[in-house]
Amino acid sequence: MSLLAEIKQRFAAVIEPLVDDAVPLLEMIRPSGDPKFGDYQANLAMPLKAVLGKNPREIAADIVAQLAIDDLCEPPEVAGPGFINLRIKDSVLVARLEAARRDQRLAIPRVEAPRTFVVDYSAPNVAKPMHVGHIRSTVIGDALVRTLRFLGHSVQGDNHIGDWGTQFGMILYGYKHFLDQPAFAASPVAELARLYRVVSGMVSHVKLKQTLPQLREKVQRQEVLVSDLPADPPPNDKKAAKALAKAQRQLQELEKELREAEQAIEGAESDREFAARLAAHADVARAVLAETSMLHAGDQVNLSLWKQFLPACLEDIDRVYRRIGVTFDHTLGESFYHDRLAGVVDDLLAKGIAQESDGAVCVFFDDGDVPMIVRKQDGAYLYATTDLATIQYRMETWRPAAILYVVDHRQSLHFTHLFETARRWGYDDVELQHVKFGTVLGEDGRPFKTRSGDTVGLEGLLDEAIDKALAVVSANDEAKPTGPELSIDERRQIADVVGIAALKYADLSHNRESDYVFSFEKMVAMQGNTATYMQYAYARVRAIFRKGDVDVEQLRGGDAAVALGAAAERALALRLLQFGEALDSVAADYRPNHLTNYLFELAEAFSTFYNECPVLKAESPAQRESRLLLADLTGRTIQQGLQLLGIEVVEQM
Ligand code: ARG
Repeated sequence: MSLLAEIKQRFAAVIEPLVDDAVPLLEMIRPSGDPKFGDYQANLAMPLKAVLGKNPREIAADIVAQLAIDDLCEPPEVAGPGFINLRIKDSVLVARLEAARRDQRLAIPRVEAPRTFVVDYSAPNVAKPMHVGHIRSTVIGDALVRTLRFLGHSVQGDNHIGDWGTQFGMILYGYKHFLDQPAFAASPVAELARLYRVVSGMVSHVKLKQTLPQLREKVQRQEVLVSDLPADPPPNDKKAAKALAKAQRQLQELEKELREAEQAIEGAESDREFAARLAAHADVARAVLAETSMLHAGDQVNLSLWKQFLPACLEDIDRVYRRIGVTFDHTLGESFYHDRLAGVVDDLLAKGIAQESDGAVCVFFDDGDVPMIVRKQDGAYLYATTDLATIQYRMETWRPAAILYVVDHRQSLHFTHLFETARRWGYDDVELQHVKFGTVLGEDGRPFKTRSGDTVGLEGLLDEAIDKALAVVSANDEAKPTGPELSIDERRQIADVVGIAALKYADLSHNRESDYVFSFEKMVAMQGNTATYMQYAYARVRAIFRKGDVDVEQLRGGDAAVALGAAAERALALRLLQFGEALDSVAADYRPNHLTNYLFELAEAFSTFYNECPVLKAESPAQRESRLLLADLTGRTIQQGLQLLGIEVVEQM
């Protein structure tokens, strides 16, 4: 058990008799931010004031008097208004390091009650190029799978690819009308992607054009609204002035939107080829939907084309997964559930969970939200229907305790409705979690795009990250006091690892719910909370062992002991022992950034130790061995931690 969990248990024995729910109070026991206040701090005396009607210092003193913790900590101190400060005994730190050093798992225990998780992640829509948004789902999902599994849970990682959606209608239509046969023979996926762009461009154009009259009307209405407001409100009437400014601003925005739409339409139509194509395919929007419906209805031609396209599409995404080292236990895409959809809708109707409304079948919610449609008027099934069938399948197949959906926060409403419907349908004892994440932004604060305006292709991104990493690795090598140590080839191999690591780590180190600004420079930086910094810390540990010609196996298995003399040694030891706490935090709210934060703190503690405590030139052989053990544990913890994030280390940098 981690130190924190152990401390909480001791406090629980004292607190539980006092309150109905001790959990929130126990949550207030935390590692302290400053060693002045001990290693851990319990701030629960203050909120207990309301319950016990005593002053918090007294409460704290009472708790301390009852606490059975002297095997673990020095005598606790009550400080300030009623903080309880705890300092772990050095002998406990040493004993725990001793256990970690001899254990493959660094003495991280497996959970006592393993659960079965399904993790739904990555899930790109195939036949469309993958983009930077997909990397977040892939990387966060992969880290969760690895961490939960390491903790002893049973995990099914499932890539719920979009292989059955309307994009296939576009591709089928494109294939039938605009195929460049030699291009298809040479590179099927590239040609399919082109066809997708051609047709989706036409469809968006048609749709945009259809919205023009509405947009014009909106502008006119807003003009009237503005002209109805007093044009020169008296200076003391702030409200009127504000209202006018607001209405004018809205008008400007609408006008801008209209202008941009008109320009886009004009621009496209001035392209002769595009205009001619459009004229010949005026019905494209409807036709594309019809292609999708025919595919779903089992049309021979469309189905066999789809079967022909799919392997190439899958190979295309697999290439990316291979490059970033991500694998899945299952890839059960939307098409896999097709045969279940009719049954799902029938069952929802029969159980009164869904109702017919205007020919469509819908699930309604009390809060006045829009209903969730599970079958359209024309008989088509939707994303939501497939997701319901997927829950049914997963529950039948794996009986999970939890299903985690690592998906963009923009799909929040979909998942709220989906989970509510699933509960009504009887799946009420499974934890359904939308593990949502924010948007990746460019340096301009808008969703990340390349100069050409396309959302950046994932592979271009990987290439660029590796290029940037190569520059950093080379510069670092050139700057070594004794001259460069790496060949060009070695630098390249290192850059491959460092570049991918940087990309993943940048994603994982941000609280997943916030948007973050994508910056190659920052992500490969040698300083700061980056993979590069962590890999460098690891390489430094390895360098000590190379330089000292130390046999690690012998060291680990030997009987040299860890001694905690200097403050930096003790601080490093404590950090090392908090690895399990970081993993528990990741598992508690499905946020890998708890682990990156921890690793960063560990690397910093190591850096201080490295600067203040000579290892190879220690004062005595015993001190040397002790410090080597601390360094080795640091290296192993960084390596294990990064591995749980799907990130590799390099021996040299
Ligand atoms: N293919 C979807 C998209 O890219 C994500 C699917 C997420 N998983 C799910 N079960 N809905 O938007």
